[in-house]
Amino acid sequence: MSELNKTALKILSNGKGILAADESTGTMTKRLESVNVESSPENRLLFRETLFSSEGMKNCIGGVILYDETIKQTTKSKQTVPELISSYGALPGIKVDTGAKVLAGSTEEKITEGLDGLRERLKEYYKLGARFTKWRGVYNISDKYPSKLSIHSNAHALARYSSIVQECKMVPIVEPEVLMDGNHSAEDCFNKTSVVLKKCFEELDLHNIDLTGIILKPNMILAGASSDQKLSGEDVAKLTIRCLKENVPSEVPGIAFLSGGQSEVEATENLNLINKYNDSNFIMTYSYGRALQQSALKFWSKDINNIQDTQKIFNHRANMCTLAAQGKWSAELETK
Ligand code: G3H
Repeated sequence: MSELNKTALKILSNGKGILAADESTGTMTKRLESVNVESSPENRLLFRETLFSSEGMKNCIGGVILYDETIKQTTKSKQTVPELISSYGALPGIKVDTGAKVLAGSTEEKITEGLDGLRERLKEYYKLGARFTKWRGVYNISDKYPSKLSIHSNAHALARYSSIVQECKMVPIVEPEVLMDGNHSAEDCFNKTSVVLKKCFEELDLHNIDLTGIILKPNMILAGASSDQKLSGEDVAKLTIRCLKENVPSEVPGIAFLSGGQSEVEATENLNLINKYNDSNFIMTYSYGRALQQSALKFWSKDINNIQDTQKIFNHRANMCTLAAQGKWSAELETK
């Protein structure tokens, strides 16, 4: 078993999942301002430190994805953030792309940037304690999108990123996110996600990536957010599993879904059903941002010094997700 494979399994095994706390300062500012909290470096750290030092971290979280600002911050108890995360038994990770920019040649689409100087940044992040990384490519669905150009260029960037990350002895999270925005059907999402995944694995293969040392972070197969199509959780689970079995090589140890705009309970219920029906060898878990943090953030904003009660809210969400990652969640547990 390679070291990278061991790292991936340490993050994902036993129902553990990933806390995606890697919102850029711009995104975090929007989140904080939406609940009337000032977005200062101190407040961004205070909220994150509250989550990182909770019981839920010990029991449920195998890895935390950080943003550049956070990985360099020091907590009240004079630990660095990566030290705090490690002391709770999780691995620190880091978002290393520099964002999705306009794709020249298809200007309504985006290409993720950040390859320039990546090797040097990775060396610094490794020294700071990071053992895995994240890069997110985004794809829109419409009658003409994603274009071949977007599918090809984002897959190429994800593969170039992965090869530099593995060279630096870290596990790359490969995140091709087919967005929920739009009124497309679930079948459309299935077909377009399939093409996107196929191309990503073709490029990963071309770049000699050790597939046992990556984590795939895909979208679930859902109807568009403004579509009228009513899909049951069972349908979502079955379509998602089929799409992954058909397009992801079996060497990949684990799949950690993004929540992508689903509500907390919806993202939990769908993950639970995916695990109930999972007949593949892939570990299927979560790498949620909003679906782990939303309620905790809302509660915390009312009194940012109420650490304990905020942690209770986060612990509950993390416990629900970890049960779902084992197919052991039920709706009644939400209200207990
Ligand atoms: O890249 C996306 C984030 O890491 C996951 O965020 O669960 O809110 O979609 P989300």
